[in-house]
Amino acid sequence: MISCPDVRKDVIRQHYNISTLFYWLLWGRHIHHGYWEANEAPQVAAQQLTERLALAAGIQGGERIADIGCGMGGSSVHLAKHQGCTVTGVTLSPFQRRWATCAAMLGGVSGRASFLCQDAETTQFDPGSLDVVWSVECTEHLFDKPAFFKRAAGWLKPGGRMAICAWLAGDDPLSSAAEKAVYDVCEGFFCPSLGSERDYCGWMTDAGLRMTSVQDWTSRVSRTWEICRDRCQKLGIRRLASWIDPDQLIFIDRFQTLLDAYNTGAMKYGCFIAERQP
Ligand SMILES: C[S@@+](CC[C@H](N)C(=O)[O-])C[C@H]1O[C@@H](n2cnc3c(N)ncnc32)[C@H](O)[C@@H]1O
Repeated sequence: MISCPDVRKDVIRQHYNISTLFYWLLWGRHIHHGYWEANEAPQVAAQQLTERLALAAGIQGGERIADIGCGMGGSSVHLAKHQGCTVTGVTLSPFQRRWATCAAMLGGVSGRASFLCQDAETTQFDPGSLDVVWSVECTEHLFDKPAFFKRAAGWLKPGGRMAICAWLAGDDPLSSAAEKAVYDVCEGFFCPSLGSERDYCGWMTDAGLRMTSVQDWTSRVSRTWEICRDRCQKLGIRRLASWIDPDQLIFIDRFQTLLDAYNTGAMKYGCFIAERQP
């Protein structure tokens, strides 16, 4: 695991309060990578990532799901609307909670998708009450990842699944240049640490879960950052960000760093499914 001790939780919250509108303008309702099968449009690719994870996790109608780090509610609304699940989304950002609540209303699923503004590191669900803990690109922001997985495993019913997509540090051993690239990504994207594939498997198995699927999606998703870099340049988003909040510029300036990290193996993108023993 590579750590960046300077990241602060209030800065993460501030980032999502300020930048959610920009994410929507730049990328649509999901704040996660696209998953490309071929040359699909970016919004199609973003939707495909959600669908791929739902498929990998074997989501079934009527299941009860917690969507940890729910962003604008893109996954939660999809799972409620198209899979008939009951979803509780959790986000650190009060702005995102309101946005996601409106998205559920507009999607006609406010009865099945609800949202909490809480910290995933302290939020609680009843023990054994969930079929699925779903988290797409949020665990990167958590300060104590092993503790989160231990707590979240306890929320699952026997046979329940954990479905995680995460940015990863590359496989050990990393060169010092690769470690620096991961550190720079952590700093630019407000991640207190990035774990490797092995770290994630270890945290989940230590939490009493059985890994059922571990997939490397790096080559399917990395195109995201070429598109974001080019769109930011074309739309003048860097200049806009410098007026609104110059502290956000580091984020935009590290798109290329992240792309390079994927291309050199300094970083990977992983999909993990783990099951609580029946
Ligand atoms: C990259 S976005 C992913 C959003 C969403 N999962 C998606 O795929 O569209 C990261 C999300 O994690 C949330 N987040 C970060 N730290 C969190 C924490 N400690 N507790 C709850 N949510 C957190 C942010 O508010 C944001 O919604």
